[in-house]
Amino acid sequence: MNAKSPIRVGSEAHKTLFCQQFIDTHELYDPATLPWPQLDKAQLDRLRAVPFWQEVYHTERRAGAIVAAFTPTVEDPLVREAVALQGQEEARHARLLSVMIDRYGIDATEQPLEKLPANIETAFIDFGFGECMDSFLGFGAFKTARQSEFLPEPMFEIFEVLMHEETRHIVFFINYMAWREVQRGRGAAPLRALTSAWYYARALRRLLGMVRRGQDTNDGRDFAITEASMFLEGFSFRQFVEDCYRENARRMSVFDPDLLQPRLLPAIADKAVAGLRLWERRRKLKPA
Ligand SMILES: [Fe+2]
Ligand SMILES: [Fe+2]
Repeated sequence: MNAKSPIRVGSEAHKTLFCQQFIDTHELYDPATLPWPQLDKAQLDRLRAVPFWQEVYHTERRAGAIVAAFTPTVEDPLVREAVALQGQEEARHARLLSVMIDRYGIDATEQPLEKLPANIETAFIDFGFGECMDSFLGFGAFKTARQSEFLPEPMFEIFEVLMHEETRHIVFFINYMAWREVQRGRGAAPLRALTSAWYYARALRRLLGMVRRGQDTNDGRDFAITEASMFLEGFSFRQFVEDCYRENARRMSVFDPDLLQPRLLPAIADKAVAGLRLWERRRKLKPA
């Protein structure tokens, strides 16, 4: 939200803005009729070797279940309408992945969903901050994969639809959280920043747990050596963080400036890039 914005965070006008924009930008499409490209043998092998389809498919199904369970508990009708749409979009992401899995013969199956936590609102909030973190890292990874032409461009165009919807979700979520905190009398900016930091720490812990689990289950697969080399050739951590930061800024630039946007991760990334640049310069200057 820019400094001159007449809209006060947490007000009725703010609520109408972030809900209505979300509702108005919902798109209608059926994953089964998207222009899925024909892949040749090498492209198919690469797509099938990606080790995280199972996890992504499960995450999207779980997302749909969490948001659908949270929807009827939302008191405000306009917020409820927007949350319901998000639930539909998450379920459609799962369908999109299932269409892809079937069409290209990917080794991923429908696993039983874990029981949802008793406190569904906390589950929704944890999920929301998790999405903010996943999307921020995903922006950079998506750019790297697209640039390396890991898959044909029409495939990235399909995933672009999904990425854009995830970006809408996190913008909606950040605004919802700020509005919710104001409703509960916890609207002061430093307090909201502290709440976000706490939830981000939880999201990071879960993400690290997932990476550890992924390493265990993918032992024995060669993705790291073969396919990943396409990404990792000349990989620079600083470049990756920079890509996340830039892509985040680019994707956020299409939203109404009167809406709040995720701030913490871009701010950390900005500082990290500056620090890494300095470190790289010092290392170059150091006599061998
Ligand atoms: Fe999703
Ligand atoms: Fe989402």
